[in-house]
Amino acid sequence: MAGLTWHASSATPAGPARAGGHPLSIRVYKDKRPRFAPAVYIDVDAVIIGDVVVERGANVWPGAVLRGDVERITVGAGTSVQDNSVLHCDPGYPMLIGQRVVIGHGAILHGATVGDDVLVGIGSTLLNGCTIGSQSIVAAGSLVTGDKVFPPRSMIMGAPAKRVRELADDEVKMVGELQARYDRRAQELLEMGVGADLGPFREKRG
Ligand SMILES: CC(C)(COP(=O)(O)OP(=O)(O)OC[C@H]1O[C@@H](n2cnc3c(N)ncnc32)[C@H](O)[C@@H]1OP(=O)(O)O)[C@@H](O)C(=O)NCCC(=O)NCCS
Repeated sequence: MAGLTWHASSATPAGPARAGGHPLSIRVYKDKRPRFAPAVYIDVDAVIIGDVVVERGANVWPGAVLRGDVERITVGAGTSVQDNSVLHCDPGYPMLIGQRVVIGHGAILHGATVGDDVLVGIGSTLLNGCTIGSQSIVAAGSLVTGDKVFPPRSMIMGAPAKRVRELADDEVKMVGELQARYDRRAQELLEMGVGADLGPFREKRG
């Protein structure tokens, strides 16, 4: 993932920031503050706390909770965090989500690493220290146990989750199309001027 340089804004709030109609949904935790690159869409009913870095064009949907009070959560460019997903970490297990990832509704990701162009299926759970290789699918409802490492292009399924086969080209394409659909929807909403007010947490490039 491309690194970004972040600078504290002069408008950095010491406490909770206003976010659309929901003033407390994006907030600082101690010295940890969320940071957002340009063209990011955050629904006003998403909750984002502490050390959460959201890269360009990523989108976060209603009810998602990204709580960066323990370790950093990085959401890669173009990644979509769907409704009611929960992202959190334990000490020593920061979360690194790659680019163009789709995190399905109600997924729980805890201290996980996810490569680029992955679909994390609806309602699946990823535990501390696991790694999902790029261009993989985690099937809906899977339980990926701690420290498990899956290579790129894996179809990952079950509880505990196993690699059942390699992904086909059309499945990789399908994930790309799903990501593009959410990207378009998010950009439309941004053009309509809806979404959380990220002003105080905007990235400033030096
Ligand atoms: C995994 C998935 C991609 C289908 O993969 P597939 O290989 O085409 O699976 P099939 O439907 O052909 O089923 C093959 C086998 O896997 C099983 N299977 C399919 N999905 C499964 C799942 N999520 N968990 C466990 N087993 C599953 C089927 O029951 C079938 O088993 P059988 O051979 O014993 O009958 C799909 O079920 C899935 O989970 N998609 C994710 C959808 C999603 O979360 N979208 C996000 C929207 S934002």
